[in-house]
Amino acid sequence: MSSRETYDELIKRIKEVSLISSCYAVLDYDKQCFMPPKGSPYRAAQASLLAGLAHEKFTDPKIGELLSQLEGSELTKDPESVEAVNIRETHRLYDKETKLPRELVEEISKVTSLAHHEWVQARKESNFKHFQPWLEKVVALSLKKAEAYGYTGEPYNALLDNYEPGATVDDIVTVFENLRRELVPLVAKIKEAPKKPDVTIIERTYKTDLQQIFGEMVAASLGFDFEAGRLDIAAHPFTNGLGPGDTRITTRYNPHRMNDALYGTMHETGHALYEMGIDREKYGGTPMGESISLGIHESQSRMWENQVGRSKEFWVYYLPVAKRIFREALKDVSLDDIYGAVNYVTPSYIRVEADEATYNLHILLRFELERELLKGNLKVADVPGAWNERFKKYFGIEVDKDANGCLQDVHWSSGYFGYFPTYTLGNLYSAMFFNQAKKEMPDMLEQFKQGNFLGLREWLREKIHKHGQRYRANDLCKKITGQTLSHQPLMAYMYKKYGEIYGI
Ligand code: CO
Repeated sequence: MSSRETYDELIKRIKEVSLISSCYAVLDYDKQCFMPPKGSPYRAAQASLLAGLAHEKFTDPKIGELLSQLEGSELTKDPESVEAVNIRETHRLYDKETKLPRELVEEISKVTSLAHHEWVQARKESNFKHFQPWLEKVVALSLKKAEAYGYTGEPYNALLDNYEPGATVDDIVTVFENLRRELVPLVAKIKEAPKKPDVTIIERTYKTDLQQIFGEMVAASLGFDFEAGRLDIAAHPFTNGLGPGDTRITTRYNPHRMNDALYGTMHETGHALYEMGIDREKYGGTPMGESISLGIHESQSRMWENQVGRSKEFWVYYLPVAKRIFREALKDVSLDDIYGAVNYVTPSYIRVEADEATYNLHILLRFELERELLKGNLKVADVPGAWNERFKKYFGIEVDKDANGCLQDVHWSSGYFGYFPTYTLGNLYSAMFFNQAKKEMPDMLEQFKQGNFLGLREWLREKIHKHGQRYRANDLCKKITGQTLSHQPLMAYMYKKYGEIYGI
């Protein structure tokens, strides 16, 4: 076989795997949005059949043979070519999937499913002792997994790589520490600020059906294509790229808070625009038709949610529109009022409810603890104490119970060690990309004031979306901004915004 034929055979096979995975995605979406509770056991059987099929097809030794035949062939000469990227990234995943022994995969799946169940109970009771033996098991299995993958430096690197390919602790730890060093005093200063926005504005009555109309209008103006996507309701907002021409997002409505649905929708729209911006007609089912990493994905969602949705320019256009929709709630509200209210900062226990300024402190705390856990420097039994001590240091408040502390997140019970840092990476990248977009389009903020957001959407498409997995996250960042990951653009953005709102 010529290299080209070998390559075509490889692509045919991985496209089949991806077809199976997208069937799984449809079932999963249905489960989260529409399925009646009694359908759960049968759905689990359907999902597990498809997951098994996809795994079997992808780890077929034939794939390994095709890959080794392509290694070093003329198709890999230009590392940025479509072929080279598809070969490189398929190889990477193939190595990962085949390195884990089957018994370990099954053990992890069994233990995390039980641990998840026990965690739900433990959180309800706010009883860490109940969860402790399960967390111990999950930590031990995560270490085994890291050993099976292999790593340089510390075991954490092997797990981080699952979510942020190519990133290592060394790349991010200094940036994260610099960020914390500046964020802690900023949050403390905001807490003491004499000037405070009136947050009750967004806690008035906002009818759910009107919120939905407003949310869809905003999503469409950012470039969400309702001919190629849907917006539904789910308990936890998420995005699911089911396949070419079908990207779904979800949100939730609270008639007494305008923020949750609006910013949830804008966040997921950011994820969806990334999925919609990838050229799936050409590259669907191959790495060139996939996103780079969770960090880069999150940079897109956070940019639309925060840099755009919480900007004054956004509200210059949208406050008059919102006033026509929510007549009663917004009748006495000025531009400065709404801008302050949506940027209200207050230290709080729960990560998923945190504001833009304190959010990263929640992440840094988790990143530090999970690293220590995997290094063996922190015992599972000591997690609540370590959590509470750090929380007091970073947020200035005491944790009242473990349900509001170390038991709040689903990640550890599911075995997602190494996932948390991608949230902060997303925030850091988002500030860097947004700055660069402003530099290259000096009238971008003026466009926002006119309700025109498509310039930014095109810019992101050109610079990021259409490249699929061509570049690693840090290379992409360097290529777009000329700089490596840094805490400074995000901090500069916060100093400016909160300086203005809080007079500090
Ligand atoms: Co997100």
